[in-house]
Amino acid sequence: MTTVIDSKAADHPAEAGDATWWRQATVYQIYPRSFADANGDGIGDLSGITSRVPYLKRLGVDAVWLSPFYPSALADGGYDVDDYRDVDPKIGTLDDFDEMVAALHAAGIKLIVDIVPNHSSNRHVWFQQALAAGKGSPERDRYIFRDGLGENGELPPADWTAMFGGPAWTQVDDGQWYLHLFAEEQPDFNWQNRDVRDDFLTTLRFWSDRGVDGFRVDVAHGCAKDLPDVLPSQAALDATPTTDGQHPLWDRNEVHDIYREWREVLNEYDPPRIAVAEAWVASAERRARYASPDELGQAFNFDLLEADFDAGQFLEIVSTNLAEAKIAGSSTTWVFSNHDVVRHATRYGLPPLNGRDVKQGADWLLSGGTTPELDIVTGLRRARAASLFMLGLPGSAYLYQGEELGLGEVADIPADQHQDPAFFHNPGVDPGRDGCRVPLPWTRSGDSFGFGSAEAHLPQPSWFARLSVEAQDDDPASTLNLYRRALALRDELQTAESLEWLESESADVLHFRRPNGWEVVTNFGTEPIALPEGEVLISSGDLGDGMLPGETTVWLKN
Ligand code: NOJ
Ligand code: CA
Repeated sequence: MTTVIDSKAADHPAEAGDATWWRQATVYQIYPRSFADANGDGIGDLSGITSRVPYLKRLGVDAVWLSPFYPSALADGGYDVDDYRDVDPKIGTLDDFDEMVAALHAAGIKLIVDIVPNHSSNRHVWFQQALAAGKGSPERDRYIFRDGLGENGELPPADWTAMFGGPAWTQVDDGQWYLHLFAEEQPDFNWQNRDVRDDFLTTLRFWSDRGVDGFRVDVAHGCAKDLPDVLPSQAALDATPTTDGQHPLWDRNEVHDIYREWREVLNEYDPPRIAVAEAWVASAERRARYASPDELGQAFNFDLLEADFDAGQFLEIVSTNLAEAKIAGSSTTWVFSNHDVVRHATRYGLPPLNGRDVKQGADWLLSGGTTPELDIVTGLRRARAASLFMLGLPGSAYLYQGEELGLGEVADIPADQHQDPAFFHNPGVDPGRDGCRVPLPWTRSGDSFGFGSAEAHLPQPSWFARLSVEAQDDDPASTLNLYRRALALRDELQTAESLEWLESESADVLHFRRPNGWEVVTNFGTEPIALPEGEVLISSGDLGDGMLPGETTVWLKN
């Protein structure tokens, strides 16, 4: 089924050491506590990552994005940072970090680290100082403190709800309240304070000096806030548009001053350090601002992650985002799975959303994985087809650990073993995100399927055995080997950042051609179609004789 082409594309854009390496990179997200556990305490660690660099090299990724590894009480999976310039002793040391960077770089793999500027943890030394120093102090000004309402300030300054549910304002001992848009343990910084700005510049230099190649910027759209003396109600906030840069909390125009300053620091390095914004904004146009070359350079586009497996939706999303990225001078990013959403092999086995604005898979997770009924076979077939479609697109592809195994979401984690604040703050409404954070299965058997020598920190289901790396390693038809072959071919075929849509025989089929004759055809329907002309390079499922079956992608060379 697979024929490897023998000549390298003449205009291969990204060579090592070049400043544009990120534009069409394949980036693999590691959630460090769930990847590999080297010291057998049940928690993934940096030495575990180092030990698996050969796996990453064979997989063929260009870069790793590492979710937070900083000291943290894990109130939000590490997105509650105690110290931005250290490693969590539970998962390693700065020396382990240096060893990991050296091993990745020796394998030709870049490293992007997560940075969390909207909020620290409540254990951060600055928050502790703010509590101790009291009302009106410069220490308190680094966060967002307010007096309460009511006769004695006993009511919160506003009725706002935090992103994980529950109130967004929490009272401290002397009666003042602080803002946390996420968990109570995640106080929001005041980005109008110069100390905050300078400290993050120091952090960018700290990791860049240690060899880090770039940063993934958490909640990039939240840092700039403009809070009037009399705060609006939650209802008023909800009714305020986020389209014009004037919302008190989200995607304010001034947020871009912050990132222009960051860019100056990132450009002190050779090659310049890259950055990718996590920015949930109202339009592709608003997103493009974060991605401009004088700011972060790239921004996540979550549109495919929110779409059904549907040709019309995919066509619209790809066309819009390619056009917007071009205007911004950036390249676009594609994502199907990450540590916040239900894995796509599961999403695609559930009924389509058809435009409903709900979290895909939430009902199913809340039912413990019973309702609606999951079609595992269809989910995996579509996930393979979608991933192969994405890997042919111009721009960067962001993969989430385990998707190369076709791993599904784990729905039967017992309530008392959950970790995600979203699960606890909104009982019965938000199922939380633990189901996509279950430690990876490396072997068919063993205490934690080869994750480590102890039981994993989140329970792994028995079906992980057949999806383990060991079970897939030698099977040419496995999802792991599909990804390996696709990434090797992608590297060989990579070409200028554009595509041309070609006519296809039905509205359920998308067919595009890259400038060097690399073609990608996806049949989103269920009926087979005639296979278009060309040399077959790879396909996401078996091809019938001269046919492209339903829910299958093929790469052709013409
Ligand atoms: C986005 C991260 O991806 C998510 O995991 C985290 O909970 C929030 N930001 C808050 O930091
Ligand atoms: Ca460990």
